Formats: sequence, structure tokens, C-alpha cells
Amino acid sequence: MSDRIQTPEELPEDDFERSLRPKLLAEFVGQAPVKSQLAVSIEAARLRGEAMDHVLLAGPPGLGKTSLAQIIANELGARFVPTAGPALERKADVAAVLSALEPGSVLFVDEIHRMPRAVEETLYPAMEDHQLPITVGQGAGARIVTLDLPSFTMIGATTRSGLLTRPLRDRFGIQHRLEHYGVEDLSAIVSRSAGLLEMQIEQGGCLAIASRSRGTPRIANRLLRRVRDHAQVEGALTVTESVAEGALAALEVDDAGLDRLDREILRTICETFSGGPVGLSTVAAAISEDPVTLEDVYEPYLLQLGFIERTPRGRSATRRAFEHLGISPPNGTPNLFDS
Ligand SMILES: Nc1ncnc2c1ncn2[C@@H]1O[C@H](COP(=O)(O)OP(=O)(O)O)[C@@H](O)[C@H]1O
Ligand SMILES: [Mg+2]
Repeated sequence: MSDRIQTPEELPEDDFERSLRPKLLAEFVGQAPVKSQLAVSIEAARLRGEAMDHVLLAGPPGLGKTSLAQIIANELGARFVPTAGPALERKADVAAVLSALEPGSVLFVDEIHRMPRAVEETLYPAMEDHQLPITVGQGAGARIVTLDLPSFTMIGATTRSGLLTRPLRDRFGIQHRLEHYGVEDLSAIVSRSAGLLEMQIEQGGCLAIASRSRGTPRIANRLLRRVRDHAQVEGALTVTESVAEGALAALEVDDAGLDRLDREILRTICETFSGGPVGLSTVAAAISEDPVTLEDVYEPYLLQLGFIERTPRGRSATRRAFEHLGISPPNGTPNLFDS
């Protein structure tokens, strides 16, 4: 499992990933529109001496949501208080987190779409008026007491913004969506990370890694680490383009950035199910993977590359997928992008 380049978001991050996190907005590569708007919001809050408006960051895993949340806290000079949707199981969990906030704190709620609905309502008055209603006592004697909270900034991160309720989403005054990165930005990220790791790498090596990173900084950093290991074992002092390509080939990451599992998904659709259409859960069962992980983590990139299509009857492989696998497509295979 550990050699997968793409992993579900739930895995705990390691020291490696933490060490490469940018600390300042200026170190955060790419996403220019998001950065410039956040810079304005941060500066305005700083000038007013008030907590910044609540921020919702949406986008696929590994694009920098957690990093940006930490950067915002850092730039505001505020305390960063991290939690996650699944950890806020009961109203009491929310109350405990909120009542421990200091003035100006940044409360980061990762995977906010996984917070139970009942708990969400506790957040509304806190987000709007810094009030926390709590029930004291039980049964007929129960009454509601309202606690005043310090003003704070909530930053929610989600890979599935479509799953948020409207009332919750509307309470975020600032909303940004992170998009996949282009090869140049990824190459800059690889180069920056290599510098932090005190590695020698040539431009061609950065580009070789960047072009196989599926538009995702987390994957770029992971590939860089694996390439570093290969280079070290081979005694290569500098990672040139050919050193990087050799290492990536050994890792079974192909020139489209697909790893073994991605190809297994494609092969399952193309060969076992003759190109589809086949239901997502059937594909998941065939490769012993969880359907949600398949849909959230693996499928988006295959869709983006035009290797598979979503149809009302399930997923279909395109001609391009067959070509990538080097097998001949049956007649009638969709011809995405070629028309
Ligand atoms: N724009 C960026 N510039 C530099 N490094 C980045 C950028 N975005 C992400 N990273 C790196 O990628 C890794 C994953 O980012 P993270 O913030 O954890 O993503 P997310 O929370 O969206 O899953 C981090 O280690 C971070 O160093
Ligand atoms: Mg994160």
C-alpha cells in the first residue's frame, strides 16, 4: 500500500509532508487568483484588527488546502486550531472546541463535509454572532444558556463541496476552489522541495517528475522522495532528466502519471468488462477497492485524461484508454477528443 503514489486523504500525514509545507503566502506556488484575493482579505483583517471572515477551501486532495489554512493563520499571527469533520461527532465536541478558542484564533475544520448535520447547527450562531448556546440540566428542568465566544476565523476544507448544506456554505464569507496545477507550477514545487531536502536536481528532472504528478503537489513531493531514494542507491549525485525517468519507470509510474492501481482500474474496465459501461461499485469490487475511494481519489484523474467516461449506465473506457494500455478497442468505443 505504501508504494501508492495516490492515497486516500484519511492517511495521517508524515513528517516529510509537513516539512515541505509552505509557511507564507509568498512560498505557496501557483493558484494566483486565490492567493491574491486571500492576501487582500488577510491584510484587511490585519488593518482592522479583527478576525478575518470565515473561509471555505474546496478542491481535490493534495492541492494545498491544509497548507493554505496554516498560511492564513501564520500570516494573521493567529493561533491555528486544527480539527476535522469526523472528530466533531456530537454537539459537545463542537462546544469543547469552540469554548477553548482564543480571540482571533483560526479554527481549521478539515473534511468539513463529514460533520454530522445535527452538529452543524451548533456552529451557525458561533459563526454568525460568536455565541454558543448550551443546554444545561436535563428533562423538564433543562434550559439553554448562551456563552459568548471570542471572535475567530473558521476555515473549512472539503474535497466534496457539493455535500455541504446550503446554510453552512452560506456562512463562509470567503470561498475558494483550488484547481489542479500545470506542469510549470509543479516543476517549481519540485524544485522548491528539492532545495529544502538539499538535493541536486536539474530542470529536466523537475519536469519529468512534474509531468507525472497528476496536477497534484502532494504527488509531486512523493515522487520526488522516491526519485531521491533511487538516485541515492544508484550513486547519482544530481537528479538529471534520465535519472528521474529511470526512477519513475522503476516505480511503475507511466508517462501519463498512472500507477499500477490506475492501470488496473483501466484494465478491469477495458478487458474484464469489454470497455463498459460498468457500474463503479462493480469495478471497485473487482479490484478490491472501496467505491468511495475509487470515485474520489482515482476516478477524477482518469476522467480528466479522457480515459474513462461517465454514462448513465456506468463507466466506459475510451479509445484513448485502450491505446494507453496497448490493446485494441472493440468497435463502437467512444472516441473522446478525437472528433
Ligand atoms: N501551492 C503549493 N506550493 C508548494 N507546496 C504545495 C502547494 N500545495 C501543496 N503543496 C504541498 O503538497 C502537500 C499537500 O498539501 P496539503 O495542503 O496537505 O493539501 P490538501 O490539504 O489540499 O490535501 C504539502 O506537503 C505541501 O507542501
Ligand atoms: Mg489537507
